[in-house]
Amino acid sequence: MKVLLVGGGGREHALAWKLSQSDKLDHLYIAPGNPGTADYGTNVDIADTDVAGLAAFAQARKIDLAVIGPEDPLAAGAVDAFEAVGIRAFGPSGAAAQLEADKAFAKQIMRANSIPTAESRTFTSFEDAKAYIASRDEAVVVKAAGLAKGKGVFVCDEPSEAILAAERIMVDGMFGDAGKTVVVEDKLLGQEASILAFVDGRNIYVMESAQDHKPIGDGDTGDNTGGMGAYSPAPIVTDKLMAQIVREVLVPTVDGMNRNDTPYKGVLYAGMMLTQGGPRVLEFNVRFGDPETQPILMRMKGDLLEVMWAVCEGKLDRVNLAWDKRPAVCVVMASGGYPGAYEKGKVIRGLDEAGKLKDVMVFHAGTARNGDDIVTNGGRVLGVTALGETIAAAKASAYEAVDMISFDGAYCRRDIADKALK
Ligand code: AMP
Ligand code: GLY
Repeated sequence: MKVLLVGGGGREHALAWKLSQSDKLDHLYIAPGNPGTADYGTNVDIADTDVAGLAAFAQARKIDLAVIGPEDPLAAGAVDAFEAVGIRAFGPSGAAAQLEADKAFAKQIMRANSIPTAESRTFTSFEDAKAYIASRDEAVVVKAAGLAKGKGVFVCDEPSEAILAAERIMVDGMFGDAGKTVVVEDKLLGQEASILAFVDGRNIYVMESAQDHKPIGDGDTGDNTGGMGAYSPAPIVTDKLMAQIVREVLVPTVDGMNRNDTPYKGVLYAGMMLTQGGPRVLEFNVRFGDPETQPILMRMKGDLLEVMWAVCEGKLDRVNLAWDKRPAVCVVMASGGYPGAYEKGKVIRGLDEAGKLKDVMVFHAGTARNGDDIVTNGGRVLGVTALGETIAAAKASAYEAVDMISFDGAYCRRDIADKALK
């Protein structure tokens, strides 16, 4: 099979690595890819949002399956564009991708299907949002409804803070059109967990649980980022809790999307808050999480390409996957300054040595090749991921690898997976 993988981050390096293990793979193309994905196929210089260009390339090269990693091309209708030229594509249609790309749409689906989530209101006028927030005493969360690279959410303990956030999003336009609509919801308390499932329109196959670390600083302090590290499994997600999430969230979401005439296929990712009152949805993503994918795929035993094909064929019920019992931990190494402004082009040293450690993978995210050097080229630069007999061992091994890698201004959190150790 010839496969085109769309995207160029850490998630895509992990997907390329896993897809390359399939007996069914003849050749892998990655658009645009990164220096890490180049080890497993041919990087193609087409932007992941150039939907027409991607479909034309796939047609010319007689691609059998397109796999779309990031949310932007999905929301822009990449799957529809591939299918329009007769190419199977793994991921939801543009209409179904609204589940992530429009938080107001997601709330509507949740409300219509009694899916547990925070109470919320949707606003298109700043004055209305301000009046509503001012009328509330409790802490609220203000969210840009559109896609904002994981940075469009403000958890505010004071109404004044929340009004300021709404003003920055709606009036100052800090996320452009993505902030024209804002969702204001109650702040929930608890631990978070990422639940990812393959969905073929009807059947659901739930992967192992994971937990992300969104804030930039140790102890979950500071601004939200795309994700600074992850581990799998999340011990807090017991079998009983997982069954409850499947029953109360995944099943009604897949049913609700069918009833809404936006049938869902691909990966459905429920970002959950495990509150005292039970699990609640914080958000849906319509793709693999980044960086959750890195530890999850290191634990997956089986043929990912076969699973993705089965999803496109509506035959997920015939698929069998197994999981490595050992936990995996991924530590993101970022450019100094991220999620704010940062410099690029810093030479990265120690990649080969770190990659030689047993059960360690150094996944590239924001990197580029410059002659013989690999240099930094983004905010999140690397996802250093390790398997271990215990979470503590996996953590120690991941940080051992991190400490072998250096570049100017390198930053990482030092407490990834500590929540699982408590
Ligand atoms: P989201 O992109 O909607 O998942 O939000 C990003 C992060 O903001 C989440 O991972 C949570 O840490 C936090 N967050 C979002 N919604 C809420 C909420 N209702 N209550 C508390 N924290 C939230
Ligand atoms: N790790 C969070 C996300 O992929 O959105």
